[in-house]
Amino acid sequence: MTLSERADALEKQLSDDLDRTIPVRAPLYTSGDRDPRQPLEIKSDAPEFAGKKFNMGHDARLPKMPDKPTLTDFFELRMGPATHLLQSATHALKAGCDEKIVMACLVHDIAVSMFIRGDHGYWGAQLLEPYVAEEVSWAIRAHQTLRFFPDEKYGYVYPELYVKFFGADYEVEPYIKRNYEKIRNHKWYETARLITVNDIYSFDKTMSVSMDPFRDIIARNFKQPEEGLGWDDSPSSHMWRTINWPTRFL
Ligand SMILES: [Fe+2]
Ligand SMILES: [Fe+2]
Repeated sequence: MTLSERADALEKQLSDDLDRTIPVRAPLYTSGDRDPRQPLEIKSDAPEFAGKKFNMGHDARLPKMPDKPTLTDFFELRMGPATHLLQSATHALKAGCDEKIVMACLVHDIAVSMFIRGDHGYWGAQLLEPYVAEEVSWAIRAHQTLRFFPDEKYGYVYPELYVKFFGADYEVEPYIKRNYEKIRNHKWYETARLITVNDIYSFDKTMSVSMDPFRDIIARNFKQPEEGLGWDDSPSSHMWRTINWPTRFL
């Protein structure tokens, strides 16, 4: 097949898949746009759904993941250009940080970029826990809290951006304050603090970044499962599967 024949075949396959399956959004993604107290109606009898089945796997509108997806595949196929993560990791690398800090910076906001924003430190840590050093996932969970607390010793001040985003009068919730008390004297405090230090300067739109400097660091610091992320029966496999197949009916 020529390249254009192959492109045509792919497009036909996509439209066939879309003709056959109905992708469905989780209630979480529509709550607020929809009143969650109202019954969640799935109009399976609607005429536009005639002859179709609900999607139970890949969503035909998304780029297909390889059968054994790696962390890099998720970066390339389920996130935007991941500029913020790559910039943070680049800062850490240039500052001469330990490799595990560079790794932590590279994935610290992975939940914001491809999964769930609220409590992103907690979601991100849970996603990564089976595959990275305990210190790295601990620090990712903790960075969410530490970003709200300045630390002169590391030259870290409360982000201007947060004043702009959340208002000058925004105050963190009690659970964040409690968490701060728990982690401020922890043996891995510095690891989490360094994520925030490399994080704050990383919204520069002009800085060009690439995944290349981090491929070896990922290989050494991320235990890529042989079966592929999502198919390895780890405690967070289901989360990777949901990112891969976000509109699966059940
Ligand atoms: Fe973050
Ligand atoms: Fe960040």
